Order: sequence, then structure tokens, then C-alpha cells
Amino acid sequence: MNFIGRNFIREKSKMKNHPPKARSRREAAEKMSDMCVIKRYKEFLPITDKTPVISLNEGNTPLIKSVYFSRLVGKNAEVYFKYEGINPTGSFKDRGMTVAVSKAVEEGAKAVICASTGNTSASAAAYSARAGIKCIVLIPEGAIALGKLAQALMHGAKVIAVKGNFDEALKLVRQISEKERITLVNSINPYRIEGQKTGAFEICDFLGEAPEYHVIPVGNAGNITAYWKGYKEYRDKNKIRSLPKMLGFQAEGAAPIVKRKIIENPTTIATAIKIGNPASWKNAENARDESGGIIEAVTDDEIMNAYKLLASKEGIFVEPASAAGVAGMLKKSKEEYFDKSKKIRIVCVLTGHGLKDPDRAISSIEKPKIVSANLEDILREI
Ligand code: F0G
Repeated sequence: MNFIGRNFIREKSKMKNHPPKARSRREAAEKMSDMCVIKRYKEFLPITDKTPVISLNEGNTPLIKSVYFSRLVGKNAEVYFKYEGINPTGSFKDRGMTVAVSKAVEEGAKAVICASTGNTSASAAAYSARAGIKCIVLIPEGAIALGKLAQALMHGAKVIAVKGNFDEALKLVRQISEKERITLVNSINPYRIEGQKTGAFEICDFLGEAPEYHVIPVGNAGNITAYWKGYKEYRDKNKIRSLPKMLGFQAEGAAPIVKRKIIENPTTIATAIKIGNPASWKNAENARDESGGIIEAVTDDEIMNAYKLLASKEGIFVEPASAAGVAGMLKKSKEEYFDKSKKIRIVCVLTGHGLKDPDRAISSIEKPKIVSANLEDILREI
């Protein structure tokens, strides 16, 4: 056999075992699947070797340094956005849902159920589809954004629109999950909180410390509970030395924690946080009080202003509920709340993507002008 032939056979047998390109691609793909929150933060999560990992590579979302809002808040302030709209179903819910659905499957569940203002249902539907189990969602009739409804339906969930609000739907799914063998995946399921706390870990891993202030919209109050738990666990493991002040914001017409009473008929354009009796009410108050923070209300006008500024000045499109936190930060900045005697970092969690609620976006801007397909007419408009 000549040299070329021998060489060819050697190369061919190498290729058979591990084609070089394919192998590096596979390694890269394996690394990518390690990006999911369960694998990255396993030591902090109730995961065993028996837990099937139901994941869509959630988490690892960008922490974007703001230019415009840092300047608005002023000297010594650095504002960051934790852009949770980048998650697989477009909201922070995926961090909790990967853990909740994985544990449900581990425990033998054949179906999950939730009440939702939209995002929980989209996430539960997607992760259930991936796990091959049934998903039932109860939504308040006519009160969830179109994108979220489309997601739940496309992922094959059984969607039931209830003539009532979120709080009533939550009461019903709680009763159903007690009676039937169906796992509840609202944030009263502790695995949801466990998964969502990984957002705090990512922020600290990125900054090298906790921020001084953590800004977050509050609806059913699971997420503020989760972030506070995450920061405390990281501090207890000596990963960070200090804890942030937790600043939660509710919408004025749906602000039970601020008003210290259940709101029977909550109203706000931010449908995701249109909640009058949050399940994690007490935990949210604990996060506020233990951290020396606040929970306050912002008006729909303030939410819409922040919503538009985020899109037009930072290039970040969020749904209105996500802008509630940013609106609150702006309000507190005007009130000179922030201690800027030293450098401060403010992290705002942007909980959901703007494309979730296209109707709200379209109704809040000027519609495009219709012009004939003619160069001169178009140039005149530019
Ligand atoms: N932002 C968005 C976009 C949300 O969807 C929610 C809650 C929140 C903020 C508030 O978070 O409830 O943990 O205080 N959405 C739930 C749902 C209620 O059903 O999708 P929270």
C-alpha cells in the first residue's frame, strides 16, 4: 500500500470513531445544554440524580448596562437590566417551570395545572409539551395578552377562560390540585421559587457582588420571594458579602400589599400583575422588611412612560408589567431615595418580552402612514 493509501485508512478510522468537526460540535452542544439553570446551579436546587431534567436552556439571560437610565438616575449610579424576556418562552417563569415540571415528572405526575395572567400558562404549557404530560390552565377571561394565549394554545395546553379574575382562578386550581392527581405549578409550588432564585445567582456571578438595589415588579409576589431567597443563600455560602435592598412595585389599581388590603377588582393595563390577593404576600413583606427596602405603587401612566422609554431610549422591548419596576425606580430617583454618596448599582428585572402583548404596543404608538409605492412620496415622508 502506498503512503497515500495508508494515510487515508488512518484518517478514515479516526473519522469513524470521532469525526473531528462533529466531535467539537457535539462538545459545544453539550456545553450549551449545561447552560440550563438546573445543571448550572444544581448544588442550590432540590435535584437528585433521579430527577429528569426537563429544560429548554432557560436562564443565562443578559445583564444589560443601561446608558440612558444610569444618566437619569445620576452621578454614581449604574443601572442594569436583567432581561428575562430572553428566556425560551419570553419570561422569567421558565427558571421556575424547569424545576417544577422536572420534579413533577420525577414524582410521577401525568398532568400539571395553573391559574395565570398569561406568562405562567405559556411556560407551563411549553415545559409540559417537552415532558409529554398534560397541562391545564385557567385564565381570567379577556384579561391576558394575545401572545401569551397563543403560546399556551400552540403548546397544546387545555386552556379554560374563567369568568372571573386571576385570584378566583387561583383559588379554583388550588382546590382541583388538592382533589385530583394534578400537580399545581403556580409559584405556591416551592420548586418554582427554587428555580427562580437562580436569577439572583446570575446577577451576583456577573457583578461579582450583589447590587445595592434590586428593583422588581410584584404581582403574585413569587418572584420577589425567590430573588430574596437567592441573594440570602449566596451570602450564606460566602459568594457575596452584602445583600441588596429589595424595591418592589405594584400597579396603583392592583396594589394590595401597598394598601394593606385585598383588592376585590384589581385594574391596570399591566395585565400580568393585575392581582388583588397575592399568594406570597407575607414573603414579599419579609423580603421588603429584612432587606430594608420598599414596596410601593406606580400609576398606569408611569408604567406606560417607562415602557416607552425602555423601547425608544435603550432598545429594550418589554411588556408593561416589566416596566412597572423601572417606573418605580424613576419615581424613587426623583424623590432622591437612592444614596448616591458612593457608587451604587441598581438592577431592574425586566420580567417579560414586549412581543407578548402586541396589542398594547400597537395601541400606544402612532400607526404607520400609508403612502403609495412611489419614491418621491416616500422621500417626502422621511
Ligand atoms: N412580570 C410579569 C411579566 C409577570 O408575568 C408576572 C407574573 C410578574 C411580573 C409578577 O411576578 O407574580 O412573581 O410577583 N405573572 C404571573 C402569571 C402571575 O400568571 O403569569 P410575581
